[in-house]
Amino acid sequence: MSEPMKMTPDSVSLLNKAVSRELQVSVQYMLQHTKMEKLIRKVIPENILLDKTTYEAMGKFLREFAIQEMKHAAAIMERIYYLGGEATTKSDKPIVGNTLSEFAQNGVKAEEEALVLYRKIIEAAGKNGDWETRELFEKIYAEEEAHLFKFQEYVNMKDEPEGPEPPLSEWRKIFTNDYFTMLNKAAASEISAVIQYTNQHEKASLLVLRKKSTALEIVTEANKAKVVSELLKEVFMQEMEHLEKISERIYLLEGETTSVPDPLPQVGKTADDFLKLDHAAENDAILLYRKIIEEAFKRGDTTTRRMFEEIVLQEEEHYWKFDDFLK
Ligand SMILES: [Fe+2]
Ligand SMILES: [Fe+2]
Ligand SMILES: [Fe+2]
Ligand SMILES: [Fe+2]
Repeated sequence: MSEPMKMTPDSVSLLNKAVSRELQVSVQYMLQHTKMEKLIRKVIPENILLDKTTYEAMGKFLREFAIQEMKHAAAIMERIYYLGGEATTKSDKPIVGNTLSEFAQNGVKAEEEALVLYRKIIEAAGKNGDWETRELFEKIYAEEEAHLFKFQEYVNMKDEPEGPEPPLSEWRKIFTNDYFTMLNKAAASEISAVIQYTNQHEKASLLVLRKKSTALEIVTEANKAKVVSELLKEVFMQEMEHLEKISERIYLLEGETTSVPDPLPQVGKTADDFLKLDHAAENDAILLYRKIIEEAFKRGDTTTRRMFEEIVLQEEEHYWKFDDFLK
């Protein structure tokens, strides 16, 4: 007779460590991907063709990795909820770096640390008879190994010498520090949304399965949780694209992008909680983006203004979608 699987607070906290790592690298790789826009501008002209190929290759796999890592985070969160735990929204601190070889070194470090942690989790899950967790992490393990090997290819790359600072010509004068601070509030709120919606999506899919006490409860709650869960999945990907666009823009203008979510992501207990929190989050994003649009208009930064006009349209759509399900 095998013993029933036991979920201990220790094993939940071990899984949550994995979640924090996955959230970290997801944002880290996405920002490195968008930072290519900044780096490519600093290369010396003689090297531009060769460099462009390298930058594009790395930029492409960084974006793929970023999405894979968020999917890892989601899968682990799902497992935690299934086992009766509470999945964290706390990310370890992303470390972006300034050159391709720094990106690669930071990637190697992050992936190696993940592999060591995941070996521990695989072993512990095996001991507990938690085969599902073990299998999940064996699958993730293989992907992290592939990431590691990819980063290793770029570790010894010779970086371009630091290019000259861009001249403070007339057209650049509108891009002041306080402007970047404002744009970074948008980046921070997108990071927050990505984490919040991913977590809630996984929690909602569990609510669908959980036993209810009355038939009516089954119909209303399960349906709602299912709809919310599907909705969040769709919205999450759009927020990821917003983060990509906004940070790309910041880097293109020679700024630095924040990697810290603000406000802190909030999850809630029931599908109704999720909806209320998400409704409020979209509301705040819309207000912030309207301010940015106004500011960009004042400064004559047409491209940023038009980008936010497009983003705010999608946030409004999100707002109304969440609104539809609120009592
Ligand atoms: Fe991962
Ligand atoms: Fe990875
Ligand atoms: Fe967004
Ligand atoms: Fe949104």
